[in-house]
Amino acid sequence: MKISLSNPLISLRFLFLSLLTLQSLKATSASCHVDDEAGLLGFKSGITQDPSGMLSSWKPGTDCCTWKGINCLVNNRVTSLSLYGQSNKPNSFLTGTISPTLVQLKFLDGIYLQDLKNISGKFPDLLFGLPNLKYVYIQNNKLSGQIPTTIGKLTQLEALSFTGNHFTGTIPSSISNLTQLTQLILGQNFLTGNIPAGIRQLKKLTFLSLQHNRLSGTIPDIFSSFTNLRILRLSYNKFSGQIPPSIGSLAPNLQYLELGHNSLTGKIPDFLGKFQALDTLDLSQNRFSGTVPKSFGNLTKIFNLDLSQNSLVDPFPVMNVKGIESLDLSYNNFHLNQIPKWVTSSPIIYTLKLAKCGLKLKLDDWKPAETYFYDYIDLSENEISGSPVPLLNRTDYLVGFWVSGNMLKFNFESLRIVKRLKNLDLSRNLVFGKLPEAVSGLDKLNVSYNHLCGKIPATKFPASAFVGNDCLCGSPLQPCKE
Ligand SMILES: *[C@@H]1O[C@H](CO)[C@@H](O)[C@H](O)[C@H]1NC(C)=O
Ligand SMILES: *[C@@H]1O[C@H](CO)[C@@H](O)[C@H](O)[C@H]1NC(C)=O
Ligand SMILES: *[C@@H]1O[C@H](CO)[C@@H](O)[C@H](O)[C@H]1NC(C)=O
Ligand SMILES: *[C@@H]1O[C@H](CO)[C@@H](O)[C@H](O)[C@H]1NC(C)=O
Ligand SMILES: *[C@@H]1O[C@H](CO)[C@@H](O)[C@H](O)[C@H]1NC(C)=O
Repeated sequence: MKISLSNPLISLRFLFLSLLTLQSLKATSASCHVDDEAGLLGFKSGITQDPSGMLSSWKPGTDCCTWKGINCLVNNRVTSLSLYGQSNKPNSFLTGTISPTLVQLKFLDGIYLQDLKNISGKFPDLLFGLPNLKYVYIQNNKLSGQIPTTIGKLTQLEALSFTGNHFTGTIPSSISNLTQLTQLILGQNFLTGNIPAGIRQLKKLTFLSLQHNRLSGTIPDIFSSFTNLRILRLSYNKFSGQIPPSIGSLAPNLQYLELGHNSLTGKIPDFLGKFQALDTLDLSQNRFSGTVPKSFGNLTKIFNLDLSQNSLVDPFPVMNVKGIESLDLSYNNFHLNQIPKWVTSSPIIYTLKLAKCGLKLKLDDWKPAETYFYDYIDLSENEISGSPVPLLNRTDYLVGFWVSGNMLKFNFESLRIVKRLKNLDLSRNLVFGKLPEAVSGLDKLNVSYNHLCGKIPATKFPASAFVGNDCLCGSPLQPCKE
């Protein structure tokens, strides 16, 4: 049937429908306050690139409460602005600055601008003009400059996160004024100076994260007032001195204690054994010395333990944990001899790193209870003999396997190389046989200093990955003799 607009019946229906649409448009646009609409459109015009169309629903004259990322509550006023980029999608970003017109959104209680990657500019002063604002999460963008000392005026804030920006300068001591904060998250910036001692006044904190900055000095002894703290992240800074005693008062509630990659010294305090809710303890890459306290046997809920790259000595305590997930004791002065039973028996372990831990065993004899979850195994620089063939026959999802500097003796051709495997270091062992074609699918390979022979399959690896074998030949080594 041919539809003609001249057909009076059809045009009447058309008109009727149009009227309906117009009416509903009118009704909805009335529900968005003019100030909110103007403030948001101002924000949109501060955005110069939006390749994934995050703001495409933000159209003048339509109800701003229906726009993507906008929530309205009381009297149809906008209460939150939440825009999230997707970190795995390269075109999921916004370029531009945060327009000061947002200050017109008088009822705003939360700003969430997360993983937008390319929002730049200085500290957004508009925050000072929003009396109802409680939650600020402007994460993984490119804000820069200093955090102003006036931040102490934002006393109504309950959560403040600027993690993953480019802020420089010190943490203003006026931050001690923000006593309603439950979360203070300033990680992954370029902040310098000390932790202001006034942070002790933020007694409601459950989450304090200052990791991945350039903070220095000692960790101040300010933790006795934090009865609710669950997460303390101070890794990847330049802190020196000892673990302050007041950290002990965070027991038993603390779940995450991350102090890795600093220059901390002294012994690991006994009181850490009191943290019976501890899930993650990272003390890696510091200068801790002495033994690991016996009291660690009380850490029955620990899933992730990283003590690698310190100067810790024997004896290592017996742990009473049912399922460790991730363990790294590498590069200390341990002589464990065997892989501990509480590791072998874990049903959920995915990372095991015991490089240079004084292991003396035949790898064939090590029979872990569960191998299904293993992603990473590093047993480099030990005295491990035998063959990894039975072990790697059981690890279907292994991504990295490092065993350089041992005495492993096996035919490479019988080693199963699963598709997921990306990193394989067998250097300085007694491996023989030929290199299988499957090694070309790896991201990193090192088989140097073994007893391998034959033609190297086409790979992208440098000569240093192959040198020191009996008779490997072909690119990148010398050509094979015909
Ligand atoms: C990020 O923003 C800058 C301008 O601030 C622009 O030159 C650059 O192209 C943007 N990056 C991406 C990935 O679009
Ligand atoms: C602390 O907060 C009060 C308001 O509660 C404000 O008047 C004062 O200026 C703030 N102090 C600092 C140092 O920011
Ligand atoms: C914790 O460990 C210490 C030392 O091993 C022990 O004496 C104490 O009884 C343990 N406490 C608890 C609550 O298990
Ligand atoms: C590898 O595992 C399969 C069963 O999954 C078994 O038949 C085979 O004998 C194993 N090979 C080695 C070398 O352990
Ligand atoms: C391979 O290992 C050897 C010795 O362990 C090391 O000297 C060399 O740099 C490594 N090469 C690559 C490409 O990893």
